[in-house]
Order: sequence, then structure tokens, then C-alpha cells
Amino acid sequence: MSSHVTTERVVALPLADLPPGTSTTVKAFGTTVAVFNVEGRVFAVGNNCPHHGGPLWHGRISGTCLPSRPHEYRYGREGRVLTCPWHGWEFDVESGRALFDPSVRAKVYEARVEHGQIVLTRRRSRRPS
Ligand code: FES
Repeated sequence: MSSHVTTERVVALPLADLPPGTSTTVKAFGTTVAVFNVEGRVFAVGNNCPHHGGPLWHGRISGTCLPSRPHEYRYGREGRVLTCPWHGWEFDVESGRALFDPSVRAKVYEARVEHGQIVLTRRRSRRPS
């Protein structure tokens, strides 16, 4: 059985309104989407954390401790990890996958800058009825 892929695009806000290091929320696709500017790269994540619905736009984007041997601390993935402000779950900001279990995901949307505007895209697969 084949499926159809639909694409929806939303012009979210001007890039000038979201300086590097800041985040905001926009209404798009019938929900609230958290939008982040990380050193000029933009990311969009569904605002509700998959754990208990914490507001991800209040989350911090940083790095995390990488797997290492006992008594060894390695830090990495700077600018790629979104930490939920409520209980500290960590997500890859690009894929939405939780670092502790990749099967747990925050919803993510494609985000890009076009002509100075941040544009969000949602792709959905649908089976024909
Ligand atoms: S609500 Fe996000 S970690 Fe609990």
C-alpha cells in the first residue's frame, strides 16, 4: 500500500526577531512550536516535552557529558542538546531523540531561513483512504 506525503510550510517570524542564543514560541501546525537560534542555526521543536509536557522553549541548549570511563569526564555536542526545564531530560535538538533512549522523541520540524524569515516545514505521511 502506498502513502502520500504532504508538506505544510509556515513563515514563523523574522530571523531578526530571534537573535543567536534566544528562543521563542510560535503557533504553527495547530500547536505551539519552540524555535531556537543556536549561533545562527535555527531549530524548531514541539513545545511540549514528551515526558510530562514541560515547556521546551524554556529549555537550555548546551552540550552534555559523553560516555566515558569511571573518573573521566568528557563534554561534547555543544549547541546540540536541549534540556527540558522541568526534569532535565536531554534531547538532540535536531532529531528530537532523547539521549537516554532514542525511541523517545520530541516532535521536531524542519526550520530554515529564507529571505530573512524563519520558515517551518512539516511533512506528514498519509495512507490513501
Ligand atoms: S516534563 Fe520534560 S523532562 Fe519531565
